[in-house]
Amino acid sequence: MTDLIYLTDSYQKELKTKVVSAEKRGNLWEVVLASTVFYPEGGGQPSDRGTITTKNGKAHVKHVRMKGELVIHECTLEGMLKPDDDVQCVIDWNLRYHNMRVHSAGHIVHEAIKKISPSLLPKKGHHMDSAYIEYAGSLPIDKKYAIEQESNTIVGDKLPLKTELVTLAELQRRSPWAPEHLPKNKPLRILSIGDLAPIPDGGTQVKTSDEVGPITITNIDNAGDVVRVYYSIQTEGPKEASIESENSMKAPAFIGLLLEAQQNAIREMETSDASAFELRLQLLGPKSELTALTRQMRQVPAADRQQVGIVVNQVKKAIEEKLTERKTPSSSPNKTPTIGTARTDTFDVTMPGIRPPAGHLHIVSQAIMEITRIFERIGFTRVRYPEADWDWYAFESLNMPVNHPARDEWETFFIDYPGKPGKDPHKQKMVLTPHTSNGQVREMEKGNLPIRMINIAKCYRRQIDVSHTPMFHQFEGLYVDKNVSIAHLKGVFDYFAGAFFGPGRKTRLRPFHFQFTEPSFEVDITCGICNGTGILAGGTKCRLCKSGWLELGGSGMVHPNVLRNGGIDPDVYSGFAFGWGVERTAMMKSGTQLDDIRLLYDNDVRFLEQF
Ligand code: PHE
Repeated sequence: MTDLIYLTDSYQKELKTKVVSAEKRGNLWEVVLASTVFYPEGGGQPSDRGTITTKNGKAHVKHVRMKGELVIHECTLEGMLKPDDDVQCVIDWNLRYHNMRVHSAGHIVHEAIKKISPSLLPKKGHHMDSAYIEYAGSLPIDKKYAIEQESNTIVGDKLPLKTELVTLAELQRRSPWAPEHLPKNKPLRILSIGDLAPIPDGGTQVKTSDEVGPITITNIDNAGDVVRVYYSIQTEGPKEASIESENSMKAPAFIGLLLEAQQNAIREMETSDASAFELRLQLLGPKSELTALTRQMRQVPAADRQQVGIVVNQVKKAIEEKLTERKTPSSSPNKTPTIGTARTDTFDVTMPGIRPPAGHLHIVSQAIMEITRIFERIGFTRVRYPEADWDWYAFESLNMPVNHPARDEWETFFIDYPGKPGKDPHKQKMVLTPHTSNGQVREMEKGNLPIRMINIAKCYRRQIDVSHTPMFHQFEGLYVDKNVSIAHLKGVFDYFAGAFFGPGRKTRLRPFHFQFTEPSFEVDITCGICNGTGILAGGTKCRLCKSGWLELGGSGMVHPNVLRNGGIDPDVYSGFAFGWGVERTAMMKSGTQLDDIRLLYDNDVRFLEQF
């Protein structure tokens, strides 16, 4: 259940919290947060708008709704946002404060009506444009003035509006009236104005009645056995005017929002299969994003409003034109060219262009670049060797003669050599490289010592499940020089762990076996979720690592036979090597929390966009 901050504090404008989920639906993102300051549409009150900012992205909240016990923030997104991200939420305070005043005014009008006509039964409220409260029953139209006067007495009395969270029993005991259906998905709350009897309410409320400012009863509309009492407040309330300077929006920011609305509308036209009529209503009607924005124009300093107004009209016109174009495509084959006749259609060359969606590098490419940069800083050079290579380099030269059982660990794809293999005993059979260790002897053969190579390439194995794909990437480090020891190996690993995963992450070596290293180790890194303790803050076991350590991959001191195969004298030189999976390493970076490696290669843009 999303924690609803606005229920206890309607004046909190900002909040630091965490993302629970973020999913793309149509052209909007649906974001769920651990707790929220955004008011979800309901109880006749419109939702908040605002921004949700993370280290790597910014979501513009367009609309907020409840779905079961969750608050869904419908947003457009720049950059990325993913579960567990720390976020900073800021609501559009001018909008909130206005909505809040309209809503509190509704409650004040209700108290006035209760006094004048106690038998009326409230049915619902509509606290937005053309605000009203609806009752079962009827009310003579001339009561308008008495209700208005009584409402403004409550406003003038500066009564406190107090909200309290209550149990159902408490609500029934303290409130003389309750609606037929109380919400089941959020905590119950009551509102009392001064000493007046409390009534159930879940919206945002001002602190004292005078913040609402003068109330006008605009109409009393009797229809059948229901009556609606319409009311309005002044747009610039007494306190709101004073806070405007601190929350006002600069013209360029507002124009930015308008252009974004235009892009959204055009995208909608291109993808939606709604009729022209429905689209027009959706994109230009009273509930459209554009209309909602124009209502907020008063946030722009008065001096800039004219400039903003021009853009509003341009955006409207652009959407109109696109809508008409959609009905009668200009590429219609029957259309005769209008050469020589006066042209009536105009094209506004000052209209801002539509930004095409920008892509970015795949998460694996990003990791490869980052790994390369980290090793370059300590003198390693990235090299590349064939990804379809001779068996000699992939196995034999690495101390694994043909038929050696250790080969089974690399579920290798053997491939036919195009043509007939020659006489060279090292060039007989070919494989799709099952690891990047084929680069070791190839690098040694170059004869340039000392060696500090980082070989990053595609690898292939006959495996597919949640943690394996038949094609993946490895990065192979090799350092050969005089007097290279295990201390160097450990030092390089700790340096990499700190640089790639963040400061404080450590590595450990576990004894293992590889034919091409002696001694051999598996390298583990402290888990970023539980800080290497295996236990989370509440005392529960860490689900990712269970023990405080995550496995990175293999390593060891280069076997003398391998050095010999590369033409290096093992009595003079020694070295260490390691080979780790790029995907695995990238996924272990805290925050990624991928639980199925195959997603990386599904090419689902909704997934890839997040990284
Ligand atoms: N090539 C090994 C593997 O794929 C990893 C490794 C590389 C081990 C270098 C030791 C030295 O599992």
